[in-house]
Amino acid sequence: MADLKNHLDKILHSAVEEPDVLVGEVVHSVNTGLLSIACGSFRRGKLTCGDVDVLVTHPDGKSHRGIFGKVIDGLKQRGFLTDDLVKQEDNGNQKKYMGVCCLPGPERKHRRLDLIVVPYSEFACALMYFTGSAHFNRSMRALAKTKGMSLSEHSLNKDVVRNGKLKVSPGYVIPTLSEKDVFEVLGLPYREPHERDW
Ligand code: TTP
Ligand code: MG
Repeated sequence: MADLKNHLDKILHSAVEEPDVLVGEVVHSVNTGLLSIACGSFRRGKLTCGDVDVLVTHPDGKSHRGIFGKVIDGLKQRGFLTDDLVKQEDNGNQKKYMGVCCLPGPERKHRRLDLIVVPYSEFACALMYFTGSAHFNRSMRALAKTKGMSLSEHSLNKDVVRNGKLKVSPGYVIPTLSEKDVFEVLGLPYREPHERDW
């Protein structure tokens, strides 16, 4: 997969907007209340992006269920997806699709697309994870550890019990409604996505 990514040249930031709009249209044709957010380096405002990363959720906490297949089918019906790399990867309550997309029309380049569907209870942590950068995520996880907490794409937990590197108890989920909540609980000033490139 790394090879494929290397072969697809970097996309200009603006070029992620079109696939993002198309994914949003398909997502909203499945359910108008779904949120569809372009994440990754695009959300961090980078001038060029390696791929298109889209997060989908529903604020009612339940209507994200059962939509994964419908969104992928909708994208296929529009001829947007050209290759599946991983059709469905289950990660707890989150589902991930990895593939290659191409907008219709002449001279269009193929792009890698990663799409995740997450429950709203995990939205803040999933958004933060999928926005990155990967290095920023590693730093945030390391900081959480020093405070007896753990941070993942699913949740921020407190009272985590560790024995050396081994996690003995996962502790308790701290409800986080927004990324700002995650920063606040970790005792950090909020950083906008474009300030997370480290
Ligand atoms: P990527 O799309 O691989 O990274 P990116 O969007 O930041 O950069 P690029 O322009 O090259 O596409 O993954 C999306 C986010 O997922 C990334 O910003 C942070 C998270 N992530 C990790 O935390 N660790 C990892 O090893 C990977 C691959 C991603
Ligand atoms: Mg990306």
